[in-house]
Amino acid sequence: MCGIVGYVGDKQALEVVVDGLRRLEYRGYDSAGVSILGPDGLQVERKAGKLANLEKAITDRQGAEHDLRGTLGIGHTRWATHGPPTDGNAHPHVDCAGDVAVVHNGTIENFEVLVRDLEDRGHQRRSDTDTEVVAHLVEERYDGDLAATVRSICKDLEGSFVLVVSHKSEPDLVVAARRNLPLVIGLGDGENFVGSDVTAFIAHTRQARAVEQDQVVEVRRAGVTVTDLDGAVVEGESYHVDWDTAAAEKGGYEFFMLKEIEEQPAAIRETLGGRMQEDGLLHLDELSMSDEDIRDIEQVVIIACGSSYHSGLVGKYAIERWCRLPVQVEMASEFRYRDPVVGRSTLVIAISQSGETADTLEALRHARSQKARVLAVTNTVGSTVSRESDAVFYTRGGPEVAVASTKAVMAQLAAMYVVGLYLAQVRGTRDTDEVRAHLRDLLDMPDLVQEVLDRMDVVRELALTLKDEERVLFLGRHVGYPMALEGALKLKELAYIGAEGFPAGEIKHGPIALIEQGTPVVVIAPRHALQAKLVNNVQEVRARGARTIVIATDGDESITPYADDIIRIPDAKSLLTPLLTLVPMQVLSAEIARARGLDVDQPRNLAKSVTVE
Ligand code: AGP
Repeated sequence: MCGIVGYVGDKQALEVVVDGLRRLEYRGYDSAGVSILGPDGLQVERKAGKLANLEKAITDRQGAEHDLRGTLGIGHTRWATHGPPTDGNAHPHVDCAGDVAVVHNGTIENFEVLVRDLEDRGHQRRSDTDTEVVAHLVEERYDGDLAATVRSICKDLEGSFVLVVSHKSEPDLVVAARRNLPLVIGLGDGENFVGSDVTAFIAHTRQARAVEQDQVVEVRRAGVTVTDLDGAVVEGESYHVDWDTAAAEKGGYEFFMLKEIEEQPAAIRETLGGRMQEDGLLHLDELSMSDEDIRDIEQVVIIACGSSYHSGLVGKYAIERWCRLPVQVEMASEFRYRDPVVGRSTLVIAISQSGETADTLEALRHARSQKARVLAVTNTVGSTVSRESDAVFYTRGGPEVAVASTKAVMAQLAAMYVVGLYLAQVRGTRDTDEVRAHLRDLLDMPDLVQEVLDRMDVVRELALTLKDEERVLFLGRHVGYPMALEGALKLKELAYIGAEGFPAGEIKHGPIALIEQGTPVVVIAPRHALQAKLVNNVQEVRARGARTIVIATDGDESITPYADDIIRIPDAKSLLTPLLTLVPMQVLSAEIARARGLDVDQPRNLAKSVTVE
């Protein structure tokens, strides 16, 4: 997620804003910029790369005519989603006249329509970003009241966003607005702030106020006014931030992983955002594959490592179900050594959060040498995997700091469903009504994931009873099987517990010998056609002394009699249940690791990106 700072006060804004951006660096970014409103009007400086590049550009300007003097400023650290990390795509973005500056976090899903209309009306677009449309819309609609202008524009935007806007004609006003993504106000004495989190301003004030959904904030030296989109003032409580900076970077959570687990509904929304057109069907230009190319695909091979491999396994079920295409999912580190049979009619999907995993890179290079077409699914714009593939589907999970992947995996799952549906839509193996119906089900998932997150206290208590275990088994069927693998991987990498995941039907072919009195067995058992078989498997392990911990759908009592512990999730289409069953296992592993006093964010022996084979 991008980092945002806004300031109005008596200090030189440049110093305040750049310091705020420096404190937001932990969020991960690939470009940064500031705009300052002062005696020389609205001045902007922005640079690709790290903050040091921006600071050098600012230093080079000092003493020049436009050296960024002024007491109103906004700043941004960008994690690229629309458009590569270049100087031109860095925020702030300005209008044609350079009177308006805008920074933005999120995805404006209808930006293509807005851009087309603006260009038809003569506006000159100068970046690849969705953000820029806001600057031009302000230019068009501004009538002397910036707050009213922003409120009007927000009503026409679709998607998730935090916007912070300044206008040359209002040197004492910064206007901010939010939908779905976090924004917080900093209340000072003769100065006020907005930020993507309190880290942006707690060096200056610890009095804060959260901004709620579809609210617009007017930030002035003398004070702050919050309204709804109709301009009605909304009263709200401020609170004292007693976190230290380190805690503030984690949003008050003890570990980044816990924060990133909570960001998963947004990760799904952002990944789905902007990929559906007005007719309710998918629109994936980024695949840069013609309909004919897609119809010519005869097999799909998914290559990945670790958790990304598990996402690929779920993708297999979805693509085979919807597209009737054979799908193989390969451990990237093994793929090229078995001289795989791939060629022009093969679509290879390389899944990698970092986009820098050596095993995955070497596998996709091999696939391309065999003339296969490679689609990258990655969370990192401009990564090596994205640059060496024929096409890229960016998950928009935002930067993931914790080594154990959570929201990136969630975004990868969403990506697998979207890619699978798009292939089915183009190949005609699902009619348009079916595609629309599946997409509607997908759009419901962020709220259902939030519902699961809201129920996790039962898992936190459960974790305390498991913290001394040395062996835990995970069982699942169908798309529950990849989740069993992922649950086991999380427990291994976070709590260093000997955990293994199996297809539930496999347990009796050997692994059941591992069961002793009290051996914890986590069973992923959302409502499914195979439920009766799964109940049998649970009975088999329970009869041998296992402690069964069952993830089950609300209202499904078929497995309850055999569950020692039960974790309820809301009902959902069975193919989409990994988006829900993943969460309790993430929380369970993180909480067991915490109970063991381990470093949840930086587990031993592990790196966030494995850039060696
Ligand atoms: C996930 O929790 C692990 N940290 C690890 O398995 C990771 O998924 C794997 O190394 C692949 O990384 P990538 O997605 O960046 O390629």
